[in-house]
Amino acid sequence: MKILLTGGAGYIGSHTAIELINAGYDVIIGDNFSNSKRDVIGRLEEIIKKEIQVYEIDFTNYEEVDKLFSKEEIDAVIHLAGLKAVGESCSIPLEYYRNNIESTINVLNAMKKYKVNNFVFSSSATVYGVPKAVPLKEDMPTSCTNPYGWTKYMNEQILMDVSNANPNLSIVILRYFNPIGAHESGLIGEDPNGIPNNLMPYITQVATGKLPVLSIFGNDYPTKDGTGVRDYIHVVDLAKGHVRAIEYSFKNRGIDIFNLGTGKGYSVLDIVNAFEEANNVKVPYVIADRRAGDIAECYADSSKAEKVLGWHAENDLRKMCKDAWNWQQHCIKLN
Ligand code: UFG
Repeated sequence: MKILLTGGAGYIGSHTAIELINAGYDVIIGDNFSNSKRDVIGRLEEIIKKEIQVYEIDFTNYEEVDKLFSKEEIDAVIHLAGLKAVGESCSIPLEYYRNNIESTINVLNAMKKYKVNNFVFSSSATVYGVPKAVPLKEDMPTSCTNPYGWTKYMNEQILMDVSNANPNLSIVILRYFNPIGAHESGLIGEDPNGIPNNLMPYITQVATGKLPVLSIFGNDYPTKDGTGVRDYIHVVDLAKGHVRAIEYSFKNRGIDIFNLGTGKGYSVLDIVNAFEEANNVKVPYVIADRRAGDIAECYADSSKAEKVLGWHAENDLRKMCKDAWNWQQHCIKLN
């Protein structure tokens, strides 16, 4: 079975490629390398000990997408390609809407033309907006607080409509919570351009001394210690969720949505403490103002994924912190 992995050179994509190959699938990576480095591919090949087929492709360009589908016998698509920075999406919303929606439409059009019926979509817990209650379940109301989130929300809607129109399709929407950690080898991981927006890459760069201090965005939330609570999930567990989703899509038609999280909420201070303890390093921090658009608490009820896909996250917070640190140390040598 040949799976096209759009955005396959990115943080989640590269880990997903490994898990798919380990599970016996052939993988084609399509990526425009706008937010990933070409040498990720070499490192992926080092891990899996074979060559990976890679297309440098812009999924917003239908001609390029059509050409890829005409050349390759694709059985299913896992669509991860997209812009993903919440803050940036508020500054350049049109780029986000154009990029994230056009690419999905192009892939779906090519799938229609070449009779490919299986599709897994990378969505986000961001579609729950400001949660009214936690843990979050798939059937809870959705809304968004930023353009990036709306692109996920709109893509989900497009997929529902497309599924209604074509009963042969099998679509799985995965709502990710907060992926952190890295592959155990230390060869791939999250490598954001510039100053990181997300908590774990920020922490690892403070721990190396590259950044002076972590700002904790608010300690007056209605949470156990006042800092924001999230559901952090090891990126390898998340990647394995995609394998289960693909297997499921080959056996079922229609559309289904699954949360991929651990079901546990950790505060920012929990993460700092766990990181320091797991790696025996210091992470100096200061308490700063709340970050605009942040919510107090967000964690998953992932029981549907457990029940239907037979998937659950296996790695604990200590392992996530260890692997993130291991990767950061390799990453310094690579950059
Ligand atoms: N935080 C800090 N300091 C930092 C960075 C983050 O205190 O320097 C805090 C945030 O305030 C929040 C927590 O750490 O409480 C996690 O923040 P992240 O930026 O790592 O993650 P978010 O939960 O804000 O956002 C993530 C993804 C989004 C996705 C969202 C879905 O980055 O793409 O989860 O819930 F939309």
